[in-house]
Amino acid sequence: MSIHILEISYLIASLTFIIGLKMLSHPDSARKGNLIAAAGMLLAIIVTLTLYQEFDSGKALNYGLIFLGLVIGTIIGTIMAKRVQMTAMPQMVSFFNGMGGACAALIAIIEFQHHQHATVTGFDGELLVMLLGLLIGSVSFSGSLIAYGKLEGKIKDKVLPFNQAVNMILLGTIVVLILIQMVSGSSPVLFYVLLGLALVYGILFVMPIGGADMPVVISLLNSFTGMAAAFGGFLYGNKAMLTGGILVGSAGTILTILMCNAMNRSLTNVLLGAFGGSAGGSAKTGPGDQTVREISISDTAVLLSYSQSVVIVPGYGLAVAQAQHVCHELEKLLSEKGVEVNYAIHPVAGRMPGHMNVLLAEADVPYERLQEMEEINDKFANTDVVIVIGANDVVNPAAKNDPSSPIYGMPILDVDQAKNVIVMKRGMAAGYAGIENELFFYPKTRMLFGDAKATLQKLTAEVKEV
Ligand code: TAP
Repeated sequence: MSIHILEISYLIASLTFIIGLKMLSHPDSARKGNLIAAAGMLLAIIVTLTLYQEFDSGKALNYGLIFLGLVIGTIIGTIMAKRVQMTAMPQMVSFFNGMGGACAALIAIIEFQHHQHATVTGFDGELLVMLLGLLIGSVSFSGSLIAYGKLEGKIKDKVLPFNQAVNMILLGTIVVLILIQMVSGSSPVLFYVLLGLALVYGILFVMPIGGADMPVVISLLNSFTGMAAAFGGFLYGNKAMLTGGILVGSAGTILTILMCNAMNRSLTNVLLGAFGGSAGGSAKTGPGDQTVREISISDTAVLLSYSQSVVIVPGYGLAVAQAQHVCHELEKLLSEKGVEVNYAIHPVAGRMPGHMNVLLAEADVPYERLQEMEEINDKFANTDVVIVIGANDVVNPAAKNDPSSPIYGMPILDVDQAKNVIVMKRGMAAGYAGIENELFFYPKTRMLFGDAKATLQKLTAEVKEV
């Protein structure tokens, strides 16, 4: 009887993961979706603890150790999730992802201990699943920790001599050793050599990739962890684990592809680290010695207050400055004055998927004011003022006009179609792509230099006076 309850509970848990994931695709339902999936995971944990038995061996579960793990994991996870800054979210995702990879590898190691004593005739599918779980989980573990270190600024980008060649040789060696292991049967020495090589491969795979490309790499490693977990689910015949792993694997893969498409770059290009990344200079002169025009806070306040329509373009700098709350305050003030205010959201603004949506949701900006790029691009021509706050690449016209630009072909927000453009940033430094932005030198553009939060605070005070 208990085995049926266990199986049905796993099925329910799998359904909650699918429903939860679907609900995550809209900001309105995302919070609820997360809770539904978490409830499903809780159900899976409870039934595993209470109903699962090692039917063949009749051995009891080691509850002391299990609860110790649960308590430690829950405390660390809760503290980290509560303390994390929005700008440090990619690091946390990377760290948690690494732990997922480690769990998948540990499952393979433990199951290998049992498997060594089994007598298998013919093709040993179980061993292959174990090896794949071990390798993918280990690569994801060590790779994610390197990604975490890079995002925290603790590890510098480092291209070792012949890095790509060494990686290819390492990968080839791993494949050959898997084949030998499959043919020769369960050899513990080979198994642990494979574990070591996979950990080294994870480090060397992520090491040369530019720090700013980490979100794409993390998403890729996330899909690896999902695959490794799915192998674990396969080993245990556990539907919840299998479905969860497949969902994480496919969601990570789709996200990686979407990010690459939105940046108009191939995955190979990201993995080989061909993109700039270092910020440019601070000269206020552009091509042909064009100079930028600045605007004062008071002139900006008057321009905004007497406009009919204003579009705010948030970017990475808004997140760095943590200016989302004061930005929302400005938006409310302008709305009270009868100005129509909307936000233009570029799919890769910031440094992680949905970065701007999450940031603005944190400040309680109503969802209906957030407009996706495809939706708002046609409306810029009828917009009086666009305020670009800490965004750079996502509004760079070079993506449309300059075939030699590294971002050529990347879809951008067509802010240059608006009547006036005000750009808030601290200086003339480049963004993530490390390139100059000709928008700043256009006659209709005016620069409002300073930290986004400080500038917005002064601007809000000034708008109140108008
Ligand atoms: P960026 O092009 O990176 O530009 C951000 C700008 O913010 C910088 O030019 C910087 O100029 C300014 N800034 C930094 N701190 C500031 C502060 N405290 N106050 C005011 N301004 C500040 O940002 P974006 O337009 O959001 O574009 C995102 C880029 O990241 C794209 O190239 C995208 O492809 C890439 N990317 C995104 C993702 C995802 S999933 N979102 C993943 C990987 C890569 P100053 O230093 O002069 O102030």
